[in-house]
Amino acid sequence: MKVIRSIKEMNEVSEEQRLSKNTIGFVPTMGFLHEGHLALVEQAKKDTTFVVVSVFVNPLQFNQATDLEKYPRDFERDEKILSEAGVDAIFYPSVDDMYPKSPAIQMNLVDRGDVLCGATRPGHFEGVLTVLSKLFNIIRPTHTFFGLKDAQQVAVVDSLINDLNFDIKLVPVPTVREDSGLAKSSRNVNLNPAEREEAANIYRSLLRGREELMNDNEWTREQVINTVNDFLQNRISGEIDYIDCLTYPELKSDNVKNHDIIIAVAVKYQYARLIDNVILHPN
Ligand code: PAJ
Repeated sequence: MKVIRSIKEMNEVSEEQRLSKNTIGFVPTMGFLHEGHLALVEQAKKDTTFVVVSVFVNPLQFNQATDLEKYPRDFERDEKILSEAGVDAIFYPSVDDMYPKSPAIQMNLVDRGDVLCGATRPGHFEGVLTVLSKLFNIIRPTHTFFGLKDAQQVAVVDSLINDLNFDIKLVPVPTVREDSGLAKSSRNVNLNPAEREEAANIYRSLLRGREELMNDNEWTREQVINTVNDFLQNRISGEIDYIDCLTYPELKSDNVKNHDIIIAVAVKYQYARLIDNVILHPN
């Protein structure tokens, strides 16, 4: 497994693979890897010949300085995990290499960005879109793999690839969970044991919402949101950031009937903000 730190070397490795007519599977991450990330790697290994994982904590997508500071990092551990997982290359650039000066161009998300995390974390997706555009150009993958835990990110990356004509196939991968149902996340280490235990109620609340959508033909968006809210209220000490029920991947709140639907929740704890969702096609 190659550990590539420079953009120039990454370009060269990628060019070599393209000349050999290999497919390049790219898994973007911010490191501190867990089984969720590894599910993306496994899918990439199935679908492509050369797998590149980037490890880069992108300062541009953090709208709170403490969140960036608190973001867990351990490159040695990540390197070991990825080598054991059979990845071909890690791209591990420095912040100075990625952003030698502050960017002259800013992305402006005008669709799929005004709800969920786009509404509560101003600038977040713009930062994600900037770093991904750069990474796509540096790595030039044929395929890229994203987790549905961050379903809005998948929807927004789908827009990025289509709008800017990146010749890349986007492959969404289902959410990997702990036995309790809690979605795996690098941020879970910032929960205390009691928070970690009660946080399993986030997924349980989503299952309640799903049940309602599947079993009650007369369901309304408000009713589903209330069901999830009622379930969560007395079961978590964290602050509910949002609960929503929208079409997926368009993320619209009107005419939700006869569409694929996402029910999504965000909860803020002192040192970690957790998100989770279910996507379904109701009756
Ligand atoms: P990060 O949070 O490290 O996540 C990297 C990828 O792993 C994302 O596609 C995310 O959806 C996926 N992932 C995280 N937890 C998962 C889980 N429990 N099950 C399945 N997939 C999971 O998302 C980012 O980094 C950044 O925004 C990035 C795309 C790298 C841009 O900086």
